[in-house]
Amino acid sequence: MDLLKEKILSEGHVREGNILKVDRFLNHQLDIRLLNELGKEFHRRFSHLPVDKILTAEVSGIAIAAIAAQYFQVPVVFAKKLESKNLDPDTYEGEVYSYTKGKTYKIRVSKQYLSPGENILVLDDFLANGEAMKGLIEIIQGAKAHFIGAGVVIEKGFQNGGRELRDQGHLVESLVIIDSLENNEITFR
Ligand code: G4P
Ligand code: NA
Ligand code: NA
Repeated sequence: MDLLKEKILSEGHVREGNILKVDRFLNHQLDIRLLNELGKEFHRRFSHLPVDKILTAEVSGIAIAAIAAQYFQVPVVFAKKLESKNLDPDTYEGEVYSYTKGKTYKIRVSKQYLSPGENILVLDDFLANGEAMKGLIEIIQGAKAHFIGAGVVIEKGFQNGGRELRDQGHLVESLVIIDSLENNEITFR
């Protein structure tokens, strides 16, 4: 997606540890016009499938999923990462291993908001090792719903998440795939 590539090249920054900072339009400040185009593109790529609901994880996935959902005309559910006294205790849980923190944490969705047989599209900002995605798939499986595919804005093609999911037969649509961030240079596939 050329618009997104141009945005990444003009406003993204490579940080130590193969991290691409996109705070200027995706992870802190939000470029709504761009998000709108990303939403249309996700819809174009998944319009052949029946989508009953979009699932994402807080925090960064929410804006992307919410804007895309307007094109699908379906509800968005986001998994909660933070423990909350007010969260319905009856939840589906997924485990996410965080490489940055070196430990596993749980994400949760109330059983009220996912139902058996529903067709679930997962949308997220980054796909790196795929740990967050695995946790979301675990939640979908716990609900006996169908994981019909994943749409991600930026896939880091040099990490294993995307390959593993595709090897398992899952549909993964990435709006851009980055093959390398070596030497402060962004190389797209
Ligand atoms: P994974 O879920 O794909 O395995 O991601 P990983 O554990 O490797 O990364 C942890 C967090 O860092 C995730 O966000 C992921 O989206 C994000 N991330 C991974 N690589 C990059 C990158 O190059 N740039 C940026 N900006 N983020 C990256 P999170 O903490 O789970 O989500 P959120 O609270 O931001 O929504
Ligand atoms: Na994320
Ligand atoms: Na993130």
